[in-house]
Formats: sequence, structure tokens, C-alpha cells
Amino acid sequence: MKDLTPDRSTLDPIEIASRDEIQSLQLSRMHWSLCHAYDNVGMYKKRFDEAGVHPNDLKTLSDISKFPFTHKTDLRDHYPFGLFAVPREQILRIHASSGTTGKATVVGYTKNDVNMWANLVARSMRASGTRPGDLVNIVYGYGLFTGGLGAHYGAERLGCSVVPVSGGMTERQVTLIKDFRPSTIMVTPSYMLNILEQFNKMGLDPRDTSLEVAIFGAEPWTNSMREEIENAFDMHAVDIYGLSEILGPGVANECVETKDGLHIWEDHFYPEIINPDSGEPVEDGEMGELVFTTLTKEAFPMVRYRTRDLTRILPGTARSMRRMEKVTGRSDDMIILRGVNVFPTQVEELVLENESLAPYFQIEVSKDGPMDKMKVLVESTPQATGGENPGTSLQQRIKDTIGISVIVDVGAPGSVERSQGKARRVIDLRAKD
Ligand code: DLL
Repeated sequence: MKDLTPDRSTLDPIEIASRDEIQSLQLSRMHWSLCHAYDNVGMYKKRFDEAGVHPNDLKTLSDISKFPFTHKTDLRDHYPFGLFAVPREQILRIHASSGTTGKATVVGYTKNDVNMWANLVARSMRASGTRPGDLVNIVYGYGLFTGGLGAHYGAERLGCSVVPVSGGMTERQVTLIKDFRPSTIMVTPSYMLNILEQFNKMGLDPRDTSLEVAIFGAEPWTNSMREEIENAFDMHAVDIYGLSEILGPGVANECVETKDGLHIWEDHFYPEIINPDSGEPVEDGEMGELVFTTLTKEAFPMVRYRTRDLTRILPGTARSMRRMEKVTGRSDDMIILRGVNVFPTQVEELVLENESLAPYFQIEVSKDGPMDKMKVLVESTPQATGGENPGTSLQQRIKDTIGISVIVDVGAPGSVERSQGKARRVIDLRAKD
């Protein structure tokens, strides 16, 4: 793989500034953001007053813990525009995510917000190894989802030639990679596997493509998946993180030279890790739920937004800004099976280590009388020959490493649902019982 380490002279100075400089910028911006939320969003005024705190009580960064949390339900309760901090006429863009139940969560951006977002996605892409002048296929979905347009504006800002392919039509994805010769693809890792399969179906060697880096995000994925795809395409795979409530893609990104977790763009977002049960902040290095306060957003300031993503904060390496460990679990995706917590990424690692199994899987949870039952749907690779049933060894590995008994169903090649964007890892049949 090519060395894509960016020249340090091309970085934003704040990316490699001293911690003191970063923290002093954070403190002044945080004070601005709390005042902005308090003065312009009814919910924040009410919540701060009820909690007996005022933006002027913020003297140090850790004082943020005196302020109340914001939850996803707050967005739903103020649907559609109730949390906007500027008049609707000053909103340049609206995005929304449908979620699985109930009303969509709606977010807005001013002109300055869209500008800041483009800068941060450009910064993220540069950290990934993409350079001005590169050709980029954007395969994240365009539309209300923040992935497509968020990536698009960032790629343009970096000075790339942008191909807004969006998701789907997998055969065409392969043709456009072959013919346009992009250096970068921005896509969910699960859809990239679908593209990989299409290369094989068309008799093309994925290692022969022009691709140098894939910027993967929008869903959890593991280092085992990184290895699988990096080997298959002979390219780098780096992680981009974000969520619509805070921005969209570009809240944090890995650096291609280290691939050791995602640097949080701390000049615009203040991260905390809390104990999800007590809500108490924990020290850097400890696992917990990631919480963000936006520091510069005009249209949609968020104070201590609970992401439900589980990770820990680590010191900076390739940049001075702190890192978050790869998000391998979301509290919403956690399956509790007879008292044991299971995340789909734990199953992903074990599926990928089994050479007779293709890299696709889904988990079905159902009821067996009063007990929950988990079935892992996988498929054999087209090359797999008779011999031992790979389901038996997967079942044993799950028992030995996760500590649960599951049923493994090995289907024929092509039998597991393919992802078109964010993969649907868990099918919960319990609700219907
Ligand atoms: O998924 C924004 C995005 C688009 C990020 C494209 C990266 C690339 P939402 O639809 O609001 O926004 O979903 C946000 O997706 O809270 C995480 O649970 C999950 N997620 C996003 N990026 C990652 C990642 C976009 N790199 C939710 N690793 C977040 C793990 C991720 N989970």
C-alpha cells in the first residue's frame, strides 16, 4: 500500500497546536455556545434554569458537567424545528434521519455551519490520505441522510474531483471505479463488501483498481474488517465518525499514518465519556457513553448530547487532538442474551476469522418460551468444499469467547441479506411475539 501520510505543512495549525491552546479555544467557544443555546432555544433556557445553572457558571471545561444532558427524545419532542437557535429563514440546509420508530429527527445548518462542516470533512479526508486533485467516488446515500452531501461538500472543499454516485446499483459502482479511476471511495464498510462481491462476479481483480483509500463510517466495523478489505483491494481503510445531531460525517477521523483510533475535531466539539447508568463523567481511558457539546454550531447547538455510542477517549498521537477508540458498539444495538451483553461487532470478528465463511452475517433474536434465543445467519464462501461444517466451529468460538450458546445457520452463498448502506445486523423477532 502506498504511503499516504499528509505533509504536516498542509494541516490546519490547530490540529497540531499545544493542548493549552486547544483547551483555551474550547473554553471560550463553549461559553459562547452555552450562551447561544440559553438565549435562543426555549428548551435550553428552561432546562438550565431548572438545573440552577447559567452559562456564566462555566469557569473551566469540566464545569460542563453541571449542565443537563440532551437526549434523542428531545429532538423528537421538538419536531420539526423547535430546537433551532436561529430564525428558519437563516437555515441553509435541513437533514433528517428516520430512525426505526416514530418521528424523524430533524437538524439544520446555517451558511457558516455548512462551511465549517465542509472544512471538517476536508480535514478528515486529508487525514485519510486524500489529496487535492484526487478523484473521489462518494457512495454514501444522498438525500436527507447526512452522508452523501456531507462528504460531497468536504471533497469539493479539499479540491477533489467529485463523483456523486450515491448508494445502490452495485454493478455500476464497479464500472465507475474501473473507468473513472478514483483514488478514494467514501462508503459504508458493509456496502464495500457488496462491491467486492460484484468485482468477483464480474471476474475483475479488486487489487488492480486505482483505489488507494476507502473512508468508512456510518456504522460500526472492526479491525478484522479493515484487514479483510485492505487485503482484498490493496488499499488503506480508515474510519470516519459522525452523527447528524452533532454534524454528520466529520466529527472525528482516523489518520492514515497511525490507524489507531479517531482524532476528535476538538476545536468544534467537546467530548465527554460518562457512565451510561449514573450519568457521571469518567476519566479519559475509561469506557462509557460518548457525549458531545457543540462549540461553534449556530443553527443547532447541542449541549451534552448523549450519542449512545460506547467508546473511550485516548490522548492524541498523529494530531494533538484527543482520540476516541473505534466505536464497536452502540447501546441500542446491544443484545442481552440470558444476562450476557453481546455486540454485533464481536460476532463480526469471529465470522471473519473463519476462512470457510463469507464476510456477511445477520443476527436473529427471538423468544423460545421465556428465554431469548439468538441465531447467527452466515453463508459459506463459494470456494468452501465439503469437510467440517464451518457453523460448528463458529458456534464453538462464540461459546468460548463471548460466552453464549447460539444457533448458527450456514446458508448457501448469497443467502444473507446484502447491505445497501448501513447494514441491518440485528433482526429482533421478539417484539412481534
Ligand atoms: O451516520 C453520519 C455519517 C455518515 C458518519 C457517513 C460517517 C460517514 P447518523 O445517520 O445520524 O449519521 O448516524 C449516527 O451512526 O451515532 C453511530 O452509532 C453510527 N456511526 C457513525 N459513524 C460511525 C463509525 C451518520 N465510524 C450513528 N463507527 C452514530 C461506528 C458509527 N459507528
